[in-house]
Amino acid sequence: MEYPMFKKVGIIGCGQMGSGIAQVSAQAGYQVICNEVSEELYQKGLRGITKQLDKAIEKGKLDAAAKAKVLGNITGTTDLADLADCDIVIEAATEDMAVKREAFKELDKICKAETIFASNTSSLPIGDLAAVTSRRTKFLGLHFFNPVPVMKLVEVVRTLDTSPETASAAKAFAESVGKTVVMAKDSPGFIVNVLLIPYLLDAIRQYEHGLATREDIDNGMMFGCGHPMGPLTLTDFIGLDTTLYIADIMFAEFKDSHYAAPPLLRRMVNAGYLGKKSGRGFYEYNK
Ligand code: CAA
Repeated sequence: MEYPMFKKVGIIGCGQMGSGIAQVSAQAGYQVICNEVSEELYQKGLRGITKQLDKAIEKGKLDAAAKAKVLGNITGTTDLADLADCDIVIEAATEDMAVKREAFKELDKICKAETIFASNTSSLPIGDLAAVTSRRTKFLGLHFFNPVPVMKLVEVVRTLDTSPETASAAKAFAESVGKTVVMAKDSPGFIVNVLLIPYLLDAIRQYEHGLATREDIDNGMMFGCGHPMGPLTLTDFIGLDTTLYIADIMFAEFKDSHYAAPPLLRRMVNAGYLGKKSGRGFYEYNK
């Protein structure tokens, strides 16, 4: 079965990832409805989108009419029932299995039968989420990267049950919002994090063992390999807690020391040094 072109996109969670996905979808002309647990959180996400659009206007990349059009394509709701007629729902809620399963269980009752369900999770098994719904063939992972408006990649993640039609409709959707797609299987870390997380953990181990300063580790990879950020800055950017969370899930699944979190990372997370968002990680930031 061919999926008709999507018109309406539902997003669960309007945090950093959800608001980014909402922005690129609205910019591509989709009607977007964002579900958040409170009006305040939705407004916070919307302010973030508005700020990005204003920056684009300052740089002469967007005009006021285009900004109004993008914002006009986005609405918010605290009621999942408002997502009933969405063509695709992309969940970008907190990385908590119970929260995500509950949302999908509800959505399964609410949404029309054709609605495709996608999760933006970076680490939880997509198949375990699909299992709470009655639409496993229409369920998959759509993993965007942070910052969503800048990063060009989306991993399209197929479970054991995802149908080829669902995968190709989701691929077409991701391409329509300007992304390059890679097709991945539902295995911990998909493609990118299997490579990225051990690299970040190794950089933390280098720092922990006093092999070099934080600046030299970062400069090594920026100037030696052309990365836009060094690994310690990137860990601060992703969040030390998020990095640890993903590493722990991958270690639990693979039982491979590649994915074992260095003690320093766990100590820092337990001390509240979460990276840029908390004002302190491997570096200090003005909050
Ligand atoms: N939203 C939208 N646009 C943003 C942005 C944001 N949050 N942050 C930066 N930008 C835009 C800027 O507006 C600017 O746009 P123009 O080129 O049009 O002027 C451009 O990005 C460059 O930004 P800056 O000049 O401010 O700063 P920079 O050159 O240092 O770039 C960066 C910032 C884009 C974040 C860059 O450092 C970078 O690419 N870093 C690597 C990020 C990365 O690896 N992300 C993946 C993380 S892993 C992940 O997400 C998956 C997971 O599961 C853990």
